[in-house]
Amino acid sequence: MPLVAGIDSSTQSCKVVVREADTGALVRDGRASHPEGTEIHPDRWWEALVSAVDAAGGLDDVAAVAVGGQQHGLVALDESGAVVRPALLWNDTRSARAAAELTEELGPRAWAEAVGSVPVASFTVTKLRWLAEAEPHHAARVAAVALPHDWLTWRLAGHGPDDPDLEALRTDRSDASGTGYWSPATGEYRHDLLVRGLGHDAVLPRVCGPAESAGTLAYGPNRHALLGPGAGDNAAAALGLGMVEGDVALSIGTSGVVSAVSATPAADPSGSVAGFADATGEFLPLAVTLNGARVLDAAARILGVDHARLAELALTVPPGSDGLVLVPYLEGERTPNRPHASGSFHGLTLATSTPGHLARASVEGLLHGLADGLAAMVALGTRPDRVSLIGGGARSEAVRRCATSVFGTSVEVPAPGEYVADGAARQAAWVLSGAPEPPSWERSGSQSYAAAEEDLSATAAMRERYATARDLVLDRLGAGN
Ligand code: XUL
Repeated sequence: MPLVAGIDSSTQSCKVVVREADTGALVRDGRASHPEGTEIHPDRWWEALVSAVDAAGGLDDVAAVAVGGQQHGLVALDESGAVVRPALLWNDTRSARAAAELTEELGPRAWAEAVGSVPVASFTVTKLRWLAEAEPHHAARVAAVALPHDWLTWRLAGHGPDDPDLEALRTDRSDASGTGYWSPATGEYRHDLLVRGLGHDAVLPRVCGPAESAGTLAYGPNRHALLGPGAGDNAAAALGLGMVEGDVALSIGTSGVVSAVSATPAADPSGSVAGFADATGEFLPLAVTLNGARVLDAAARILGVDHARLAELALTVPPGSDGLVLVPYLEGERTPNRPHASGSFHGLTLATSTPGHLARASVEGLLHGLADGLAAMVALGTRPDRVSLIGGGARSEAVRRCATSVFGTSVEVPAPGEYVADGAARQAAWVLSGAPEPPSWERSGSQSYAAAEEDLSATAAMRERYATARDLVLDRLGAGN
């Protein structure tokens, strides 16, 4: 039975899974860490990929490989295929001013119409503007612009400084849609917007279709395996989870990401929803909050307890925390765009001044932030038929149970796994099969949390109380602060 490999080059590490192409059964896996920081030389990703591949028993026997990766990072290449400077990652905020300038120049509506999203500091185009302004000598050398997964796919195809064929760069719709110079609606690059960022034109990776081969592997003795086009991490996770239209994923990691598969492209001039593409030929509108699992860390720290105890405490209190509300902007916020916001509790009374209330209000506050993201997506046409909770924060029993009342629906918790690497492997199997649809791999072990009557009856009042507290915070700050 043919084997396929999926690679996830994430912010923190590189993970490799080798699976059976037909069934998706896991055969072997491996991982290696990335260095910390928001500016990393791409060679470090390549070294981690080589170690993770070794730990996973190599690629000699696989018939196809695809790479999923962190979105947005700027990999700038010169004429000779060399990396011009270390990559600026999605979570590097030095281009915040460039993002504001670019938004101002065209206006948010024109950006949303052109590329599906209003640029924030994460997007590649803002990093190019930063480069052009702060390091013009580097900007002048840029001959091609790639994303982390594009560059790794190019390296796997045998390219690099020894074979610097920039025209051989390939990407996919999902990652291209996070650059700020590719339109999910038309499927075309906007070189004018690239020039607006960088100051001159450059080679961009050709955008492959969802199951189109991006070339052939040239790694060790394996010179025959097909390369998939790869995907951005959120889209790869959606493919790994087998999400279809109507599925919503709430991913609670360092940041919180709400994403949904949709048949139509989104364009939100308010900037709350990024109108990305998915990895199957459809769309993946998503909203990213900066306040994910670290809200739970903060609450545990305040209460002097561990995460298990925090969850126990939270579940001693009814949905809505008897009116205590946390607006969870502990790290400022991206959705809504208030980089200088801070968090605050509202509704403290003698009755709600208990560890349980503080614990539950914290869990609920984190979820309300995500629920705001989902509400913005629903307003643009997302249909939330099934809500799944993933990421480290989804391990908390309190998060799972509180989610049913905050979202007013039952939630699914898929079995823990490497969804991004799995999605890349499923894409590789799809490319290998040449079939019109990706192979249907069974995923078992998902848990369902049904919304109880008391959860559903609490939802509307909780959401309203949260909105009142949130608007107090936002009004005090003013837009963009
Ligand atoms: C999406 C985003 C993050 C990164 C993390 O816009 O910024 O989800 O993809 O890797």
